[in-house]
Amino acid sequence: MTTRVAVIGATGKMGRLVADLVEQSDDFELVARLSSASELSDMLPAEIAVDVTRPGVSQDVVEYAVDHGLRVLVGTSGWSEERIAALSRRVEGHDDTGVVIIPNFSLGSVLATFFATLAAPFFDSIEIIEAHHAGKVDSPSGTAVRTAELVSAARAAQGPVSAPHTDQRARGQEVGGIPVHSLRLAGVQARQDVIFGGGGETLTIRHDTTSPSSYERGILLALAATRDAVGVTVGLDKLIPLTPAAAGQTP
Ligand SMILES: NC(=O)c1ccc[n+]([C@@H]2O[C@H](COP(=O)([O-])OP(=O)(O)OC[C@H]3O[C@@H](n4cnc5c(N)ncnc54)[C@H](OP(=O)(O)O)[C@@H]3O)[C@@H](O)[C@H]2O)c1
Repeated sequence: MTTRVAVIGATGKMGRLVADLVEQSDDFELVARLSSASELSDMLPAEIAVDVTRPGVSQDVVEYAVDHGLRVLVGTSGWSEERIAALSRRVEGHDDTGVVIIPNFSLGSVLATFFATLAAPFFDSIEIIEAHHAGKVDSPSGTAVRTAELVSAARAAQGPVSAPHTDQRARGQEVGGIPVHSLRLAGVQARQDVIFGGGGETLTIRHDTTSPSSYERGILLALAATRDAVGVTVGLDKLIPLTPAAAGQTP
């Protein structure tokens, strides 16, 4: 049996990608495409609402869907911890609805961040350089911020990283004590390097996005997880077995 899906933001870049994947899938059926010209009630024939709109719009879309008993997959940026906490309270106690929020659908990016957390306790010197296309207005990227937070947490027992001279602007913005440097360049889509410095060696964990098709596998994984979601789940890393012991179990 197929699961009925509505895509909100279906005229946008991410929305078109999600709609195409749903249409190609044997497990899902696309029943509504919403844009800024639609009524939110247009999503109601669906069981899952996929929100890929804009940060200022997403909260209303998600709350409407949850209040009408749909499960929701959110790809839109800008879901702060406070917003997520408020949404969790709204969803609490409802076993028939749930929300999956995926700030980054790229499996490679999620793996790179995971690998960085494994390396974190072994190096005292850690910096992040992220590069994106010139059209990206925010910096550092949400992924760089999340990576820095997780790397910092992963080495909590070792204490703060050694980051000298961070009072100088060119040393980047500190997140969790880790200097993050943002490049906005023509010719680049998205790249992130996490660089670890140790005695006589450096280790670089790099992720490169070369095409939006990098999101496809993560979108399908997240759609499958949303079908039975209860409560609020945040991050693709929660949907795949990311432990060294799980090596070899590919989703
Ligand atoms: N999670 C990830 O891996 C990932 C990856 C890339 C991007 N993103 C995020 O996904 C979001 C969408 O990105 P995009 O590049 O697809 O943006 P986009 O091309 O600008 O598309 C935005 C979409 O939202 C729709 N929209 C705007 N206001 C609306 C409203 N009030 N009600 C319903 N729909 C509305 C637009 O409809 P109109 O055509 O009518 O304006 C359009 O379909 C952004 O927040 C972006 O940062 C996430």
